[in-house]
Amino acid sequence: MDPLYRKVAAEIAQHIERSVYVPGDRLPGVRRLARTRGVSTATAVSAYQTLADEGYIEARSRSGFYVRARKAIQTIEPTLSAKAAAPKLVTGQAMAMALIKAANDPAIVQLGAAVPDPAFLPTQAIARALATVMRTKRSQVSSYMMPPGALELRRQISRRMSESGAIVSVDDMVITTGCQEALSLALRAVTRPGDVVAVESPAFYGLLHVLESLGLEALEVPAHPIEGISLDALGFALERWAVKACVLVPNYSNPLGYCMSDDQKHALIRLLEKHRIPLIEDDVYGDLGFSSQRPSTCKGLAPHADILYCGSFSKSLSPGLRIGWIAAGRHHAHVEFLKYVTSIASSTAPQLAAAELLATGRYERYLREVRSKYQSAVARMSDAVMRTFPEGTRISQPRGGFVIWVELPKGTDSMALARRALRDGVSIAPGPLFSASGKFANFIRLSCAKVWDARLERALFAVAKLI
Ligand SMILES: Cc1ncc(COP(=O)(O)O)c(C=O)c1O
Repeated sequence: MDPLYRKVAAEIAQHIERSVYVPGDRLPGVRRLARTRGVSTATAVSAYQTLADEGYIEARSRSGFYVRARKAIQTIEPTLSAKAAAPKLVTGQAMAMALIKAANDPAIVQLGAAVPDPAFLPTQAIARALATVMRTKRSQVSSYMMPPGALELRRQISRRMSESGAIVSVDDMVITTGCQEALSLALRAVTRPGDVVAVESPAFYGLLHVLESLGLEALEVPAHPIEGISLDALGFALERWAVKACVLVPNYSNPLGYCMSDDQKHALIRLLEKHRIPLIEDDVYGDLGFSSQRPSTCKGLAPHADILYCGSFSKSLSPGLRIGWIAAGRHHAHVEFLKYVTSIASSTAPQLAAAELLATGRYERYLREVRSKYQSAVARMSDAVMRTFPEGTRISQPRGGFVIWVELPKGTDSMALARRALRDGVSIAPGPLFSASGKFANFIRLSCAKVWDARLERALFAVAKLI
């Protein structure tokens, strides 16, 4: 149970969030607050003290408590150099496993993993769709759904992809167990252990784990927080190193949240074609942009280029369904075989349920609602970070998805911070996990797809205090 002063503080914080009190407003005096809330003056003082600690209000001597002005968001500055680093074997991602396991612990406030809180997901619709397929397709559900996977689902995905300009037939697609498996199959299809793979920097750590497990070297190419991977640096790297594949998240990358323009995507494709390098396009966040127009995909812009397109419903429907897919172009047969030897097939019921949700239009309707919810959640978390974190903090301004990349004051050790925070019951993702060479020591990634409540505020404030 929250102590009483916290409840009072949370109530006033909510009023400030909703602009009942605006910056510069004087709040009721301590005695008046105590009287109206039916608490002691000591409780009222503690409530105001908490709000002051959390950056909502400030005490002015002899005058009382006032709502503080909102701090403008300081945006991350690009650090781009045309000279990409040398390729590195990915190792030492052990901290990530602690984080990943923390995701199973309900006692921990989850700001680390890029996993939406179930409150953001259409859990009822999913339950209904699963119940329907269990009832109506019982014998099918009890069998293997051999690769390439459920035809109904491939048909629905193919229709959706064509709406974003990518024409992929049902025969050119393999259903996978999430995008993670799709990425792994794609890399196995086009590389061998010891090969060099170009990745954006910072890169989603799950990708770095796949590289690590396959004995691949990562060539980290710097990415601009708004424009995406530096094509100058990528061009330089391709001249210099024998790169065998390039993996990118062109739409709402994780962790930077940028979305590459069509011009940049075309330039990227031309560059990779010139060097005959396949692109592994991870579009897991493509449906979660903050604008109503879905961004293009490289696969759609260049249907004949060597592109292995990987998608998933983990971020946009539910990670628990574990449904992803890959449209691997000329590598299709190889990928299909690799899928079979890896896990024979993906679970049948979730495939059929996802097909149902797409066919009935429920998925589209849900997307329309959730995109603006994620945008608000990102704005709220960004605001809170600017309010509570120390001077010198900068954050990304994602154009989709639900994570923010936070640059902390120089000298902050985010690995130590993450370990301490985890001991205090909060998971955050430290910057070095997003690099094969331990870069981004003073960065963290925060997931914003969380229910905003007093527990979350306290967790964020605890992290701010540790910094
Ligand atoms: C960019 C990116 N790709 C792939 C994945 C893995 O997706 P899935 O859960 O569908 O395997 C994630 C999950 O965090 C991600 O952020």
